[in-house]
Amino acid sequence: MNYDQLFSDSIQNKDAFWKKQAGEISWFKFPQQITSADENNYNQWFADGELNMSYLCIDKHIEDGFGEQIAVVYDSPVTDQKQTYTFHQLKNEVSKLAGALQSLGLEKGDTAVIYMPMIPQTLFAMLACARIGVIHNVVFGGFAPHELVVRIDDCKPKVMITATAGVEITKRIPYLPLVEKAIELAQDKVEHIIVYNRKLVENKHEMFDGIIDYEEIVSQSEPADYIPVESNHPLYLLYTSGTTGKPKGIVRDTGGYATALKFSMKYHYGITEGETFWAASDFGWAVGHSYSVYGTLINRNTTIIFEGKPILTPDAGTYWRIISEYKVAAMFTAPTAIRAIKKEDPNGELVKKYDLSHLKKQFLAGERCDVATLDWFEEHVGVPAIDHWWQTESGSPMLGLLTANDDYKIKRASAGKPIPGYDIEVFDENGYELAPHHEGYLVIKLPLAPGAMLGIWNDFPRFKSSYLSQFEGYYFSGDGAIVDEDGYVFITGRVDDIINVAGHRLSTSEMEEVVSSDPHVAECAVVGIEDALKGQIPFATVVLKSGTEISDTDLEKQIVQNVREKIGAVACLKNVMVVKRLPKTRSGKILRKLIRTMLDDKDFQIPSTIDDENIIDELQEKIKFYKNIAK
Ligand code: COA
Ligand code: AMP
Repeated sequence: MNYDQLFSDSIQNKDAFWKKQAGEISWFKFPQQITSADENNYNQWFADGELNMSYLCIDKHIEDGFGEQIAVVYDSPVTDQKQTYTFHQLKNEVSKLAGALQSLGLEKGDTAVIYMPMIPQTLFAMLACARIGVIHNVVFGGFAPHELVVRIDDCKPKVMITATAGVEITKRIPYLPLVEKAIELAQDKVEHIIVYNRKLVENKHEMFDGIIDYEEIVSQSEPADYIPVESNHPLYLLYTSGTTGKPKGIVRDTGGYATALKFSMKYHYGITEGETFWAASDFGWAVGHSYSVYGTLINRNTTIIFEGKPILTPDAGTYWRIISEYKVAAMFTAPTAIRAIKKEDPNGELVKKYDLSHLKKQFLAGERCDVATLDWFEEHVGVPAIDHWWQTESGSPMLGLLTANDDYKIKRASAGKPIPGYDIEVFDENGYELAPHHEGYLVIKLPLAPGAMLGIWNDFPRFKSSYLSQFEGYYFSGDGAIVDEDGYVFITGRVDDIINVAGHRLSTSEMEEVVSSDPHVAECAVVGIEDALKGQIPFATVVLKSGTEISDTDLEKQIVQNVREKIGAVACLKNVMVVKRLPKTRSGKILRKLIRTMLDDKDFQIPSTIDDENIIDELQEKIKFYKNIAK
């Protein structure tokens, strides 16, 4: 297998190439139409093919004689539980839950919200929906009710599947008060709410209408069989931060996605069927969908549901314990997790306690990985740490290394080379391709590879304006990049107002909306500043309305609380600095990049468009003062 040949085939002979890849999975009707245009003239894959994702992840392996293989491991240091499920057992759980959904009247094309912690029932719920063609939307458990409301109002679910509690290290987070609040605020009422009772918290909220006990309904239901769906039937919606406050509902197809996941498991992650693959991500993120559930199970790998953190559950050796206990062959996490471990265990003492001989590769993505973290990993763990780049939109890697190939070469700080199917270029602002070593916008020539988003749920105009209209014929990623003479790509960061906090994608505009809603605030700018552990954290600079009487500390507390309540604790907004005015251009645009550079204490150039240069000294003094207090 030669990278150059595979890549060029995937672009030059794309129909033949992807037809062959589609042949690696089982279809009820094998597609003859490989590429075609949808009603908006946007490319779609395998339009006349029919398949079922739940079948591919479960039944197919049983038919092939692997029913007794462990499909799922649940390991929860925070509740002191461990459990495994074979493919047979997984089928039982999933088909009965699918039957329960059918008994509530759910049909192919209906939508379901899944708001759950890292427990097996979340994975069952995803696969149960997939089994009967119900389109799921998993909402990250760390999001506040308002985020749930936005999703409910946009995708109008017939059912919500939730649990009574999540556990954050030692804190128990009751979900039902959050669900109840969301239901109250949502414009559209959810007909049924299925609740998995974890018996971890007292349930004072079980009385609200429409609530159904998960175990009860499952025990009373007949198992449902899988139903064939068309390749472009949406498997799920996954909302992600956009450049406006409202998250975008990324629509994922079934056939292209299944093909891309199988391809990535084989060529990119280079993992063999039957091995254990651990993606340590929450189900609520794209990584959780693609590599804690679908990709791993399609490839008949054992997946691990880990309910814990890289540190404190109980210590920074927990990842190594899991790797050794379940003989993990390859692992995937965000660099933040490794930074957190490195901070607690700089000399790798805890690593030495475990047998990591099965671990062949460590994959990192979700945010930029600093070289020091890569070096620490390789020195102490002794396996290659491989950075790769993708987005919720793509559903699988777009830059990386085909590690099934023994002679793949890692370049420090690069996220790798374009993955077959992704014709990546770096453009200047006028759409001209830049020569190597020049920083520009990372764009991808259309069509995108199978598995990439079909669009934004019910909003083609937004899909077009967010991704397709910046450079004609290309997908605009929102990331900046540099390519070198060997074709390796280096991601330089977002060029918009999206930030990555501990590998979590968040929108600063959404935070600005919450901060500005404070009655004391006249205007504000939220920017992502550098953070040694989380990569980036948000920082709010605010101007008060005249005549406002509130101390800076009280205001900070109030805003921090408000952001936790509206977006969730995961937003990590902890810093609010009050200033007399914000730096602006003469036309009134806030100079956010300047604020960010100053907060990061980096060299900056005063923009020629600045309205009043005196503000620089004013701001610098304020930053110095604020940082001194923060110490
Ligand atoms: N439910 C409820 N609250 C949650 C939550 C969830 N699922 N996930 C996070 N939170 C809360 C945390 O409890 C914390 O609240 P606090 O401010 O009251 O303490 C806040 O959100 C921030 O959480 P987090 O970003 O996880 O920070 P942390 O300091 O608790 O942990 C790390 C730091 C580095 C250990 C952690 O961020 C981590 O494991 N990161 C890896 C991320 C990852 O795997 N991303 C996947 C994309 S590939
Ligand atoms: P998400 O949609 O949550 O997966 O976030 C996607 C964004 O995370 C990308 O647009 C990048 O900004 C960032 N990202 C993901 N992987 C990497 C990486 N390997 N290096 C740098 N940034 C990354």
